[in-house]
Amino acid sequence: MNLTADQLRDKYLKFFESKGHAIISGASLIPENDPTVLFTTAGMHPLVPYLLGEKHPAGSRLTDVQKCVRTGDIDAVGDSCHLTFFEMLGNWSLGDYFKREAITWSYEFLTQQLGFSPEQLSVTVFEGEGNVPRDEESIAIWESLGIPPARIYALPKEDNWWGPAGTTGPCGPDTEMFIDTGKPACCPECRPGCRCGKFIEIWNDVFMQYNKTAEGTYEPLKQSNVDTGMGVERTICMMNGYSTVYETELFAPLMAKIKELSTTQPPEEQAVRASRIIADHLRTSVFILGDPKGGVKPGNLGANYVLRRLIRRSVRYAKLLGIEPGYTKTLAEIIIANYKHVYPELEKHRHTVIHELATEEERFEKTLAAGQREFDKVAEALKQHGQVTLSGRTAFKLYDTYGFPLEFTEELAAEQGLAVDRSGYDEAFKKHQETSKQGDATFKGGLADNTAVTTRLHSATHLMHKALQIVLGSHALQKGSNITPERLRFDFSHPDKMTPEQIQRVEDLVNEQIKKAHPITVETLEFEAAKAKGATALFAGKYGEQVKVYSMGDFSMEVCGGPHAANTSELGGFKIQKEESSSAGVRRIKAVITNLK
Ligand code: ALA
Repeated sequence: MNLTADQLRDKYLKFFESKGHAIISGASLIPENDPTVLFTTAGMHPLVPYLLGEKHPAGSRLTDVQKCVRTGDIDAVGDSCHLTFFEMLGNWSLGDYFKREAITWSYEFLTQQLGFSPEQLSVTVFEGEGNVPRDEESIAIWESLGIPPARIYALPKEDNWWGPAGTTGPCGPDTEMFIDTGKPACCPECRPGCRCGKFIEIWNDVFMQYNKTAEGTYEPLKQSNVDTGMGVERTICMMNGYSTVYETELFAPLMAKIKELSTTQPPEEQAVRASRIIADHLRTSVFILGDPKGGVKPGNLGANYVLRRLIRRSVRYAKLLGIEPGYTKTLAEIIIANYKHVYPELEKHRHTVIHELATEEERFEKTLAAGQREFDKVAEALKQHGQVTLSGRTAFKLYDTYGFPLEFTEELAAEQGLAVDRSGYDEAFKKHQETSKQGDATFKGGLADNTAVTTRLHSATHLMHKALQIVLGSHALQKGSNITPERLRFDFSHPDKMTPEQIQRVEDLVNEQIKKAHPITVETLEFEAAKAKGATALFAGKYGEQVKVYSMGDFSMEVCGGPHAANTSELGGFKIQKEESSSAGVRRIKAVITNLK
């Protein structure tokens, strides 16, 4: 069946209205009162209080269309279906109906309203873990509807458990619906959830029965809820028989314009990926800048940083395609025209959207120019020494510092008759990712995109802790620490206000260590051994307990869970912004690092 996005939204809302659901408005992309995430990532997000038991004014059955931004998969963008912005259709039961109705209606909507044949459908369910059993009930319901057991897959928590949206809140086992594209299986193990693209997930019914607490435990909720999410872009892609979301009417005019503006001809695969990234990232940026709540501008912190990263990434790929500067305005106009009848806020904020995009594009052009100079310098030096390969480290630096994608560097190198050491680049990239992954684990909850920044601030905290002890005395020990992407805050024991000279001395000591570019190393030791080596420890370890000890040259050694930067040089520069009293005998410092990218 051919169906447009407009028709799909309409059909969905009407269908669930006919099942007793109240149609409510989708919320802003910028979450209200929720510091644990930067953007609204799912339809359930604005409904959290109601999933936890509060009464919703519209009743216990709700349905809507929600704008969502998810940047966790940003590196997957460029394939057939991963997007950083998407529209989610959802229906909710707030302690009302449960599995039978939810699954039956999903099946009815897919087969009778959208016309998918039952043979195209595969589903997954939760296989059970800990004290949450295998979801036999959902299996039985799917079977009763006619899905044969061979197309019902019971999968572990990483596949079939959804939520919470941030770090705490409602969550539970889910059942996901996949359309078989008919492509050949990539391997004998190929199944729904496989990344090869044979099976596309279009809908998820989550049975929200649990609340994840700050301590990481799952407690049963007062009520059993249903939370579902169907992706608009993917669903119309599947319905119209396209193989990628970029062929749908939501992207087609944008893709055509990108093609028209392109002036270079990189290999086909690269060109396709680049144009998808440009389209996806700009569409997301337009929706963020055009949000009714407003306030998110390109910047260095939090949501602002995500926006900056999206715009800049798009600019880089536009360069790869030889698209002239000023293109963000042209493409934003198309996006606004394409969506304004559904999201009038885009038209209303047209001026801001276009102005902010253009300004950020210009700003980044300047950084790119600096990167180009760096590249020219390196290329010149290589040629003078008769060398033909640009090192992986240099390629990575161009990526990390100046935002040059590898493909872009390769293009430039090829023009100079140089090759790029790809495996060296991969190695440097992997090392970097490992550091950020550690970061993700600790700073999850909205900071995922700023891990480099918060990790560096954490390392700065260690250097400052040591510097304080040198300048003020060994009594100046940590009493508390709090890091946001903007700054570090550090409480330590000291009876008096620090003098300007002492503050300067601490700053100088830290900056000195940054300049020394100490590799930051970590080893695992028993607590006693760490103490014996002279490591600072803020807690009394249990006897025999294994702890991680982070060292920065011979300057600082602390027992700590990490994560940290790989080298003190990554911190760039260090500045104390404020020194004040925290409580009796405890002082508080707020400080920043000055190389934020
Ligand atoms: N909240 C669920 C999801 O995002 C429906 O997949």
